[in-house]
Amino acid sequence: MKIKVGVLGATGSVGQRFVQLLAEHPIFELEVLAASERSAGKKYKDACYWTQDTDIPEKIKDMVVVPTDAKHEAFKDVDIVFSALPSDLAKIYEKEFAKEGKIVFSNASAHRMEEDVPLVVPEVNANHMEIIDIQREKRGWDGAIITNPNCSTICCVITLKPIMDKFGLDSVIVTTLQAVSGAGWNGVPSMAILDNLIPYIKNEEEKMQTESLKILGDLEDNKFKFADFKLSASCNRVAVIDGHTECIFVKTKEKVEPDEIKEVMDKFDPLKDLNLPTYAKPIVIREEVDRPQPRLDRNTGKGMSIVVGRIRKDNIFDVKYVALEHNTIRGAAGASVLNAEYFIKKYW
Ligand code: A2P
Repeated sequence: MKIKVGVLGATGSVGQRFVQLLAEHPIFELEVLAASERSAGKKYKDACYWTQDTDIPEKIKDMVVVPTDAKHEAFKDVDIVFSALPSDLAKIYEKEFAKEGKIVFSNASAHRMEEDVPLVVPEVNANHMEIIDIQREKRGWDGAIITNPNCSTICCVITLKPIMDKFGLDSVIVTTLQAVSGAGWNGVPSMAILDNLIPYIKNEEEKMQTESLKILGDLEDNKFKFADFKLSASCNRVAVIDGHTECIFVKTKEKVEPDEIKEVMDKFDPLKDLNLPTYAKPIVIREEVDRPQPRLDRNTGKGMSIVVGRIRKDNIFDVKYVALEHNTIRGAAGASVLNAEYFIKKYW
């Protein structure tokens, strides 16, 4: 029997990706679509300005959107909710759903850095989910909140994890070139971004710098011990629709050659044997001198693989490379769904 799930913020850009990934999911049955009072009562096809490159799934089109109310009867039999809410709303609503006994898999930043909330990329720190026992006990919830990181952080930590495990990390510098879809349909005006680049994304650098260290750190005695390397991020918005590119410079603790980095990244496949439906090989290496590119590579592994290329020696740091992520799949909805699949496999 499938597990009944709902999506909060279902009409928004990440919400639509959730709908795409969950409509025909082998273990989840998408039962509830929630959004604002403006959309509640309308059929999904009328409430939502659908901007994906596939049609609205047939079985979803006529579902009636409900308000984001944890006590609404539509949620009665739902065990899991996926949250694509804007962060200020997530801060209020996600707790209410956890209190009502739902496991909330959140893509929002609202609770990511709280000391009893796991911030998880399952290939990197799945064990951090164990903190939810403390979260439930402390907050008196039957449910829980499990978060996934900011889109740019996911790309970065997946590539750093195999390097850290084998060679140690001393310092990392990341420059991002981020797609406009990360800001939502109305996020970046076309007049601002066409023929242009915007060298500022609010709070993005701070998120990358703190979230990465929580994820790559340890969970010891029910406390997060942050990783101790230095990370500096510089974030830019570029005129790409989907696909964040990151130029990553790494200084390792042990001396390392580019071929060794390539080898550990290529072998990195920690959840291979779990057969999770949304899982794809986390890192795919491209050998061509001019890859990865957003348009050509973002759908690798159905948008779940990070594509890495141009692994080479650096004159100042040890190595540098280019990584690409489908930001609304691997970097958002797909990340939450993978967390939920892992959770079901390990803890349900
Ligand atoms: P709605 O379409 O009804 O406004 P995005 O980040 O792409 O802008 O999407 C935001 C999502 O959050 C949408 O699904 C939107 O629904 C939903 N939302 C916005 N305001 C509220 C609110 N006050 N309560 C619940 N959901 C909201």
